[in-house]
Amino acid sequence: MNEKTAALLNQQVNKEFYSAYLYLDISNYYNDQDLDGYSNYYMIQAQEERDHALMFIKYMQSNNLKVTLDAIDKPDKHFSSVLDPLVAAAEHERYVTALINEIYHEAHQAKDYRTMKFLDWFVNEQMEEEDSADTMVSRYKLFGSDPKGLYLLDQEYAGRTYSAPSQTE
Ligand code: FEO
Repeated sequence: MNEKTAALLNQQVNKEFYSAYLYLDISNYYNDQDLDGYSNYYMIQAQEERDHALMFIKYMQSNNLKVTLDAIDKPDKHFSSVLDPLVAAAEHERYVTALINEIYHEAHQAKDYRTMKFLDWFVNEQMEEEDSADTMVSRYKLFGSDPKGLYLLDQEYAGRTYSAPSQTE
């Protein structure tokens, strides 16, 4: 595999673990606000991000690439409203999409079809994650300013359950 693609895959391990950290931070924020459903939603999101990191590690291991685990940045976003973390999450997912696209571009340039195929799962996943994050923002804007509306949204997010992505099973 070309060196730059391998380096970007390794970098993505760290980025996915950072995503897990960010979502744990968001889960903690909502827990402090007693919005347990939102807190649950982001706890599960953090588990999914950890799974993404493991998927990159497994792919690198399967291709005999050395994996270097770097320090994970501290989450540094400050939230002062129920809406803030939702907007931050949507922005973050767009950033992750750009990172996946960058790896894909490099793999494409190097005619690394195996890595492109591996990344296809993430290309689809990012479409879903951006859509879900945007929906959470718009639903909060529609219903969240009414206490009953916020209560119902929180109840709904309390129902989210974790399931491992097919590639990690
Ligand atoms: Fe691993 Fe939310 O993308």
